[in-house]
Amino acid sequence: MDYSEVLNRARELVNENCKVCKDCNGIVCKGKVPGVGGKGSGSGFIRNREKLNDVKVNLDTIIEEKEIDTSIELFGMKFEYPIFAAPIGAVPLNYSPALDDYEYTEAIIEGCKEAGVIGFTGDGVKDEYYDLPLQVVKEHDGHGVPTIKPWEKEEIIAKIKKAEKSGAPAVAMDIDAAGLVTLALLGKPVGTKSVKELKEIISSTKLPVILKGIMTAEGAKKALEAGAYGIVVSNHGGRVLDHTPATIEVLPDIAQAVKGKMKIFIDGGFRSGLDVFKGLALGADAILIARPYVVSAYGGRAEGVKIYTEKLGNELKQTMIMTGCHNLKDINKNKVFI
Ligand SMILES: Cc1cc2nc3c(=O)[nH]c(=O)nc-3n(C[C@H](O)[C@H](O)[C@H](O)COP(=O)(O)O)c2cc1C
Repeated sequence: MDYSEVLNRARELVNENCKVCKDCNGIVCKGKVPGVGGKGSGSGFIRNREKLNDVKVNLDTIIEEKEIDTSIELFGMKFEYPIFAAPIGAVPLNYSPALDDYEYTEAIIEGCKEAGVIGFTGDGVKDEYYDLPLQVVKEHDGHGVPTIKPWEKEEIIAKIKKAEKSGAPAVAMDIDAAGLVTLALLGKPVGTKSVKELKEIISSTKLPVILKGIMTAEGAKKALEAGAYGIVVSNHGGRVLDHTPATIEVLPDIAQAVKGKMKIFIDGGFRSGLDVFKGLALGADAILIARPYVVSAYGGRAEGVKIYTEKLGNELKQTMIMTGCHNLKDINKNKVFI
């Protein structure tokens, strides 16, 4: 199987909600929440893509030829690439019932594991949206990062305990889901959290906690104060608030505030290894990718996920060769043109 076959198969299975566009850029699906688009005008998602396209890379091949090392160590594990599958909750509902939650997560967890990276799992209004993916993580020796919604504190802590039992190396919380209308519509509200509440949540576990949905340097500093291991610079793919800036636009300020003090992940419109390179150059330690991973899972299950990850990894390597980088530490803001 190759990547174009993966896309063709996915097109047959998910065409109701997602058209598997050549460039997954939020235009065709804008406003579709539930569905796969960005909220309202859809501009949060669309701008993520546009602004990544505006970043250009600086070519420089006058450098000693050496083996290219794309590996990274995070939460005590070594990964082949700084590329991870982002959490997606309630996939059958938002995409298509052609895969159930268990099958989807299995594809993500196995495919990522085979490619030497890791997948984040999602959460949702029903308990099974968290528990089923977690079961898959447990069955794969804890190879996954469960992501919990900002429910009431007691429920979050109970879900963290379940994550600990699964053997997961870290846990995440999409703190920006405080704005998810879909959950409120279904009668299960989520809410904002103070630094004090976050401290209580984070100190309830020995697992590293990653806060997902940070879009300002102020927010990043608060996450640091709360004791988070890392943050995901994310606007939730434009799904929680309309008219946000693109994640790549706010990354440099955030990196200036907290780089080296905590891990910085980013998502939002990253589609290729070239995009991954741009995120690393502007201050991220690693990149999360969501929608294209879902498409790869529908199109080729674990094999599709592995093929997509290796494609991204090869593109990243090629970009490193062409910009004079031997390892991830060599990638810095001088390597891009903005
Ligand atoms: C259908 C759908 C469901 C999502 N569910 C979750 C979720 O349960 N938890 C979460 O943290 N993020 C969730 N996200 C957000 C993604 O993890 C990611 O932040 C966002 O899609 C941006 O990445 P992308 O442009 O690569 O898709 C969801 C996104 C989509 C499109």
